[in-house]
Amino acid sequence: RTVYLNGEFIAEQDAKVSVFDRGFLFADAVYEVSAVLNGRLLDNAAHLARLSRSCQALNLRLPCQPEDIEALQNRLIAENSLQEGAIYLQISRGNSGDRDFDFPGESVEPTFLMFTQARPLIDHPKSKTGIRMVSVEDIRWQRRDIKTVGLLAPCLAKEYAHRHDADDALLVENGLITEASSSNAWIVDAEGTLVTRPLSTHILHGITRQALLALAKQHDIRLEERPFTLEEAMNAREVFISSATTFIWPVISLNGKVIGGGVPGPVTGKLREIYVAEAM
Ligand code: PDD
Repeated sequence: RTVYLNGEFIAEQDAKVSVFDRGFLFADAVYEVSAVLNGRLLDNAAHLARLSRSCQALNLRLPCQPEDIEALQNRLIAENSLQEGAIYLQISRGNSGDRDFDFPGESVEPTFLMFTQARPLIDHPKSKTGIRMVSVEDIRWQRRDIKTVGLLAPCLAKEYAHRHDADDALLVENGLITEASSSNAWIVDAEGTLVTRPLSTHILHGITRQALLALAKQHDIRLEERPFTLEEAMNAREVFISSATTFIWPVISLNGKVIGGGVPGPVTGKLREIYVAEAM
C-alpha cells in the first residue's frame, strides 16, 4: 500500500512517526473515516466539516484547507486503485521532541497521515445475515462528539462482545443506549417508528446517521429522535447500526434475546436499499 504522511506519498513500510508524537503519547489527535465506493468518496464534505469541528474543539490546526485534503484523499485512492472500502485520515498535534503535557508552540507542525483500506461495503456478509450484540456500560469520556483517537473504551467493548459470543457491543449510560462501539444505534419501536438518539456531546454525530435521517424523511418513514432504553431495544421490532464502514448492519440478537425473529427487519432492509441506491 501507498500511504500519505506529512506531504509525501510513500510505501507503508517507509512511513515513520516519532515516538514523541502526541498522537501516541496522549491520544492528542483526531481522525475521520470516509467510505469509498466505485473509487469515489462518499459524503466526504460532511466528513471534512466534522473534521474541522473536531479540530476546532481541541484547538488543533488543520494542516491544509478541506478542499486540499480532498485532493490528497483522491490521489491516495488512485495510487492504491481503491474501488471499495475506506480512507482513514488522522491529524495529531505533532511531535514536540519530548513527553510534555503542555501544548507545543505554534512552530510544531501537526502530523497528518492517511491510508486506504479495501473492504466490501455493498456485499458484506454481515449486512445480509445481521450481527449479534451485547450491551456494556459506556465508560468513554464526556466529549464523544469530538472524533479523537482515544479509542480504548470501544476496543474493550468489542473485546467483551467477542468473549461473549457476539459481534459488537451497544453502549449503555444511565439505562439509555448512547450508540454502538463504533457506529450509531437505531431501533424500530413497538409502534413501528424509526428511533435514534438526538445529537449531543453523548454521541458521535454520525455522517451516515445524518444521511439516513434525510432519506427517511424523503421516503415518509415515521421517525423520532429521542433517547431509548436498553429494555426498549431488547423488545424492539428491529435494531440496526450505521457507520461509514458498515452503512447499515441489522442486529438480530441483543444480550442473547432474539430481535425480530432473528432475521433483518423490513425497515432496516428498505433503508439500506435506499442508502445504497443513493451511494452508487
Ligand atoms: N466510526 N459512533 C461512533 C462511536 C463511531 O466511531 C462512528 C464511526 C459512528 C458513525 O459515524 P459515521 O457514520 O460518520 O461513520 C458513530 C468509524 C467508522 C471508525 O471509527 O472506524
